[in-house]
Amino acid sequence: TKHFLGLKGVSAAEITSLLDRAAYWEQHPSKVTNTLQGKFVSNLFFENSTRTRFSFELAQKRLGAGVLNFSAAESSVQKGESIYDTVRTLESMGIDAGVIRLKPTGVLQELAEKIKVPLINAGDGNNEHPTQALLDFYTMRKHFGAIKGLTVSIVGDILHSRVARSNLWGLLELGAKVKFCAPPSMQAPELAQFAPYVSFEEALQSDVVMMLRVQLERHDHGLLRSAEDYREQYGMTMERASRMASHAIIMHPAPVNRNVEIDDELVEHEKSKIFTQIAHGVPIRMAVIERALT
Ligand code: CP
Repeated sequence: TKHFLGLKGVSAAEITSLLDRAAYWEQHPSKVTNTLQGKFVSNLFFENSTRTRFSFELAQKRLGAGVLNFSAAESSVQKGESIYDTVRTLESMGIDAGVIRLKPTGVLQELAEKIKVPLINAGDGNNEHPTQALLDFYTMRKHFGAIKGLTVSIVGDILHSRVARSNLWGLLELGAKVKFCAPPSMQAPELAQFAPYVSFEEALQSDVVMMLRVQLERHDHGLLRSAEDYREQYGMTMERASRMASHAIIMHPAPVNRNVEIDDELVEHEKSKIFTQIAHGVPIRMAVIERALT
């Protein structure tokens, strides 16, 4: 089965071929094709989403696939049905692939061992969010021409971030250098062997500074009592952005907490790629769905 569960262990050649295919789709913006005519894809979201869910749906519709949207809140999950029984139910009805987002880490791997139709990871707990990382790589490659040799610093809640993990695995494979910057309570110690934790000052010297969404509600540490404290110590402020190199860019997977991890004025600043990243989500997801189904 052609599951697409993560970027750990995926070769540079395979990542590059997905980026190249996304470039093809971006250059052929004809609204709808019949590439996947007669195929049915279900979007199985057990956790909320705006960008991932709708860019997958746009990608499916542009490829001509039939789309079945499932959200846990409106389903028999509310009567206690399990994730496995839900996915197995859709499979038995005849879907050709499932795009799935899950809150608990590890469940996707278990499902993938039992479900025969391709499953595409749209966010797996704290583990991986591979299509997000691919659209990030696409954005970097388009801006810089190549990813090999770039230094990418990822700043914020590394501990809970599936975006940081997917970016880490893919960027290392593609020949970039990764650095992390996080308050002690948001560091993932097991990742330190792959990417050093550095000061914000050092992170600002990178080609890419990728900010992560803060989930302040998950943390209870005296050092970072408030959004204001966080912004002061780990936020991308206008002042910090002004000290980045002129060629360097700011990225963020969004949704953004304006004036917490990134200043309001920076969200649509010329150094920021946030809405460009979002736009790239559609061709990237077209490439990923196509790979799963053809
Ligand atoms: N970046 C991202 O995954 O956003 P959503 O949670 O809105 O899909």
